[in-house]
Amino acid sequence: MSARLLAPLPGSEGLAERLALAGGLELAALATRRFPDGERYVRLGFNPAGRAIDIVADLSRADDQFLTLAFVADTLRELGATEIGLVAPYLGYMRQDARFQPGEAITSQTFARLLSGLVDRVVTVDPHLHRFSALDELYTVPAVALHAAPLIGDWIAREVKRPLVIGPDAESEQWASEVATRADAPLAVLSKQRIGDREVRITMPDMNPYAGRQPVLIDDIASSGRTLVAACAALQARGFGPPVCVVVHAIFGGDAFARVSQAAARVVSTDTIEHPTNAISVAPLIARVLGGLNHDR
Ligand code: R5P
Repeated sequence: MSARLLAPLPGSEGLAERLALAGGLELAALATRRFPDGERYVRLGFNPAGRAIDIVADLSRADDQFLTLAFVADTLRELGATEIGLVAPYLGYMRQDARFQPGEAITSQTFARLLSGLVDRVVTVDPHLHRFSALDELYTVPAVALHAAPLIGDWIAREVKRPLVIGPDAESEQWASEVATRADAPLAVLSKQRIGDREVRITMPDMNPYAGRQPVLIDDIASSGRTLVAACAALQARGFGPPVCVVVHAIFGGDAFARVSQAAARVVSTDTIEHPTNAISVAPLIARVLGGLNHDR
């Protein structure tokens, strides 16, 4: 029986290599390019007949990646792959999970339905679950959500002296509390009010018990970066030094990275999305799951 193959979409080669290394998995090549009119050409560089294949895709650029993913998955299916998995360490389109204004698209639902029609299983890391509490409320194929909190907790324990783990909003408490326990550090959770896409207001609980500690802000996503910047400012106003900021998914759109870097002592992320701040690899976490699927076959 042959081992599972990893087939990275353009831009995900680095993570696929780390996954292959961590799990002793085999890499498969895809050739893609653009036709002069901008449309995508795709060719498999291997024979998928009788093989289980995991497509590795960075879905932080889902609008760009989705069609390529569909072309690859359909071709794998037509050419005889026995199982098609999707490894999307960052699962895009999770945040619009309700119709807040009349007529709005609930994109998390539509995107999950489209992906469920293309692949047989999904593996991801810390998807943004808020109003939906589990992936199986959205996905009709098996979908595994892994958690980076233990890796982040270990990183803090190694790298930060006298840490105070801080979640910038109520949603972040789920992962921040796991991180704090793992790092053996106290936890404080702030309150956030989102005024717009790029404006948030932060309020703080009593922080006096934590005076003298190094604040470490933990969030799942840095997108506009405004949550982290506002939390850094609120902490500094209470006499804390610049925080260390740790995020799972380093989206950092527009000027977000510059703004957060200016406000923070250090900015660190996992490698679910390729970014200069990557310092914590999720490859061993994902490789363990893929290795398990290998043995199930
Ligand atoms: C809240 O919904 C999330 O956990 C993050 O706090 C949020 O996505 C960060 O977004 P931004 O960087 O745009 O403030």
